[in-house]
Amino acid sequence: MSILDKHGIIERNATLLLVGSLAVVSIGGIVEIAPLFYLENTIEKVEGMRPYSPLELMGRNIYIREGCYVCHSQMIRPFRDEVERYGHYSLAAESMYDHPFQWGSKRTGPDLARVGDRYSNEWHVQHLSAPRSVVPESVMPSYAFLKTTPLQVSNVAMELKANRAVGVPYSDDMLQNAEADMKAQADPNADTTALEARYPKAKIGDFDGDPTKLTEMDALVAYLQMLGTLVDFSTYDDAAGYR
Ligand code: HEC
Repeated sequence: MSILDKHGIIERNATLLLVGSLAVVSIGGIVEIAPLFYLENTIEKVEGMRPYSPLELMGRNIYIREGCYVCHSQMIRPFRDEVERYGHYSLAAESMYDHPFQWGSKRTGPDLARVGDRYSNEWHVQHLSAPRSVVPESVMPSYAFLKTTPLQVSNVAMELKANRAVGVPYSDDMLQNAEADMKAQADPNADTTALEARYPKAKIGDFDGDPTKLTEMDALVAYLQMLGTLVDFSTYDDAAGYR
């Protein structure tokens, strides 16, 4: 009996074909999955990552609501042209507190993974309000309404709690102070010592240019300004990163 005849037996028997297919597919699965059991961690160890501050988290919700991810990625690939334009390629650790991820798959506009600190708050407000007033050839829509829309969050502590339920390490202290922290981050006159201890490197100040009101613009700009600024790359070793 030749090998072809033997294969014929499998092909003519549905059950045998199913069992055979499953066996072959599971070999592929094991080859992909088994190595992960022997890795201590698939996320690099880095210094500086922390959960989003309440204001940044609310800004992130607006980013998702407005569909910014439809035109912007947050994923710098390890290619020379990308690294030279945007900075160090994205690390898994940098999105470990993202639920859901904002990696995106379309770049109508530039990647935003490291846009934090690249422009002033005023630039962002002007650009989001009227993109073509700063970049004449821009096809980005205007989001001017964010500046006049008060940031309304019924219970910001619950937002943090929902993230904690999926593994983001928000402490009880962070939950208790969520509302106050959210307001203090956009208030240039507030005492932010405790806020900065809870969320190191948080950008503080009036983001939208109107210190009397907490708007959606405040939250979105606070979020944009922290993107890619947390990891301390002076302590990160590329070669050791994947060990
Ligand atoms: C229809 C596609 C589109 C959408 C939707 C969109 N953008 Fe843009 N964005 C662009 C384009 C194109 C540019 C490049 C031209 C410019 O700077 O305006 C850009 C530029 C930017 C920049 C400047 C980046 C840099 O490095 O210069 C930021 C920040 C930005 N967008 C934020 C946002 C945010 C936040 C949202 C959602 C509220 C958003 N964009 C929605 C297309 C889009």
